[in-house]
Amino acid sequence: MEKIRVELGERSYDIITGSNNLGGIGDALKPFGLSPKIAIVTNPTVFSLYGKRVSDSVKKAGFDLLVVTIPDGEEYKDLLRLQHIYDELLAHKLDRSSALIALGGGVTGDITGFAASTYMRGISCIQVPTTLLAQVDSSVGGKTGVNHKLGKNMIGTFWQPSLVWIDVVTLKTLLRRELLAGLAEVIKYGVIYDIDLFTFLEVNRDKILNLDTDALTYIIRRSCEIKADVVSKDEREAGLRSILNYGHTIGHAIETVTGYTRFLHGEAVAIGMYLEARLSQMLNLIDKDQVFRIKAIIDSYGLPSEMQADIDINGILSSMQLDKKAVAGELKFILPEKIGRVKIYKGVTEKSIRESLRS
Ligand SMILES: NC(=O)c1ccc[n+]([C@@H]2O[C@H](COP(=O)([O-])OP(=O)(O)OC[C@H]3O[C@@H](n4cnc5c(N)ncnc54)[C@H](O)[C@@H]3O)[C@@H](O)[C@H]2O)c1
Ligand SMILES: [Zn+2]
Repeated sequence: MEKIRVELGERSYDIITGSNNLGGIGDALKPFGLSPKIAIVTNPTVFSLYGKRVSDSVKKAGFDLLVVTIPDGEEYKDLLRLQHIYDELLAHKLDRSSALIALGGGVTGDITGFAASTYMRGISCIQVPTTLLAQVDSSVGGKTGVNHKLGKNMIGTFWQPSLVWIDVVTLKTLLRRELLAGLAEVIKYGVIYDIDLFTFLEVNRDKILNLDTDALTYIIRRSCEIKADVVSKDEREAGLRSILNYGHTIGHAIETVTGYTRFLHGEAVAIGMYLEARLSQMLNLIDKDQVFRIKAIIDSYGLPSEMQADIDINGILSSMQLDKKAVAGELKFILPEKIGRVKIYKGVTEKSIRESLRS
């Protein structure tokens, strides 16, 4: 087992990575001085796979455990299910020293983190992410939230977890498509921050796709280290943290225009990463061979890279203007200058964006 520290002063916490380590969670909670009453929030899919191991461990460590389940799916990351979580916590008298354990993917992590940040003005949250996306991205960094009918993730808080506990082996039951979508975020870390991670992904593709534990552990740790480093320098996205949005400006717009049904988030980000690299090339910020390498790695992992012809370019453009990350209507792009380094770039003209989307 290995520890990565997210340095955030009094809000610092550890990310533990290991294999077959779910049985260790209960003991890991002991030093936090928690009330005996704690709750796991999860969904039926994940609970049937890993619920018993986590519950047994937590109960064995002496806690009085409540299990709250929410249905499986992004559409349940909403205010109604949040209300259900509060109802359960109150009915079972969880108190100000209680903790919530989020067991599942990013959907579970986001709604549980939000519930923890608001229940009795804020209680501890332990993230136990079981998708690759959640392990390398959503469980670290403290963004929590639920969707509103007028927009995704529109209601939320910054609330850092007290602990992130990752069992790499849980990825063995994940759907292939979900795994690949998570890998898009790992590729992102390589492009924005770490040429060595990028090269590792190129060289070890088969091992990673065959779920080799050591290879997975390496890419998950490295991704968490990068996210931890970025978040500890800019917790609330005043500047640097926005580099994590590489591929996301166009990616989010693609998700919106296609109604969130055609692509998984990581797939849309994969297209976004290639198109934003191409935009960077058009602005003469990056060499063609580097853009080629970015496209090649996306393709080699079976992720989409090209904008499909039937996607409405005007819709993409107007959706980007509405993105909550566009400050005062000025679009900001994270553009690679070479693999391992990006630049925050403002003032890209609509014409350049149109060209990069089309060619
Ligand atoms: N807070 C953040 O910083 C942040 C960052 C990125 C994404 N997100 C959010 O994360 C969410 C997406 O997360 P996700 O991709 O993990 O989706 P998800 O939570 O819906 O999980 C995907 C599917 O995999 C299932 N699953 C989870 N673990 C499994 C396992 N080990 N084996 C088999 N099946 C398993 C889930 O039940 C679900 O059906 C979105 O709501 C997004 O907004 C948040
Ligand atoms: Zn993302």
